[in-house]
Amino acid sequence: MNKELEKISKEIEKDIKKLKVSELQKKYLSKNGLLNELFSKTKEVAKEERAEYGKTINEFKERIEKILKDSKGTESRVEDTRRIDPTAPFDINTPKTKRPRILDLKGSSHPLMQELEKMIDIFQRMGFNVLESRQIDDDFHMFESLNFPKGHPARDMYDTFWTDEGFVLPAHTSTMQNRALRRFGPPPIRVVLPGRCFRNEATDASHEHTFYQIEGIYVDEGISLGHMKAVIKESLSQYLEADLEVKMQPAYFPFTEPDIEFVISCPFCNKVGCKICEDTGWIELMGCGMIHPNVLSAGGIDPKKYSGFAWGVGLDRLTLIKKGIEEIRSLRDGDINFLRQF
Ligand code: FA5
Repeated sequence: MNKELEKISKEIEKDIKKLKVSELQKKYLSKNGLLNELFSKTKEVAKEERAEYGKTINEFKERIEKILKDSKGTESRVEDTRRIDPTAPFDINTPKTKRPRILDLKGSSHPLMQELEKMIDIFQRMGFNVLESRQIDDDFHMFESLNFPKGHPARDMYDTFWTDEGFVLPAHTSTMQNRALRRFGPPPIRVVLPGRCFRNEATDASHEHTFYQIEGIYVDEGISLGHMKAVIKESLSQYLEADLEVKMQPAYFPFTEPDIEFVISCPFCNKVGCKICEDTGWIELMGCGMIHPNVLSAGGIDPKKYSGFAWGVGLDRLTLIKKGIEEIRSLRDGDINFLRQF
């Protein structure tokens, strides 16, 4: 191989590791690309070397064309398409380009994100705004603004993780209530606040240390529990595609008054009793209630003029119900065979 080709061969090997597929194509295969330029120089090569020269450039071309073909229109340059046992030990030091392919190149969205999108779509069609909650927050939003003064015993109901600097990994999406009232006020305020929550839990089939909630708040003049019941029932009926019966039971939250636990008839057995409702015919789904006047005031809303309701539903639990999944931890343990079903 002549010196110039040797240099280009090395450049190609470097670029294959470094460049995106589209960049490779442009640099080497486009009309003004390097390989066309090399082909046009064939005449200048000594006669006895011409055949070898042409063959080498063709090999370069085939090498890059194969990468383009294997990438199947994506930007990935993974060439090794062998399937592997994903549970086998895996050397994390293997360069990305040499790793065997585990999932289809395009990947897929996680079942929780699929369900979150469906819920958000339902609320957007009902006229709600959407604001994602934070994954790290402070004492004011986690407790003070929600009517848990310092030393309030109900703080213990939300045992979560704290940083050395005093920041908190939120135990619920209610941390966003104060921000939402300020950002979307003055009323009418209609907003859903999805986000990741964390709790110091001894995990089991229905409790995780990390899970999602979808908070909702609705504030306007003359809002009552009747409005709350209608909004929650309608959104759940649309999501679960079932005509549900609902019950409201007493609960306790410092940030609502009254405080309610929302219970639905089991959409799987029609109240006969099954594994999913633990043979009760009913499923407890979320906490909710009328927003406490102190919380409205802390958010800059006059509680004498306005009233509103809030709720916080667990997205993971909804996903278990919708998809008939028995174990909440399956949603996070990264088992590819489980994820491929969705
Ligand atoms: C709350 O978190 C309140 N912030 C809800 C609320 C909002 C009440 C607005 C009033 C007004 P609770 O701790 O019950 O409440 O949690 C609400 C839902 O989150 C539960 O019904 C459940 O679906 C889900 N959830 C709670 N803890 C876990 C956990 N460890 N794993 C999975 N899901 C959980």
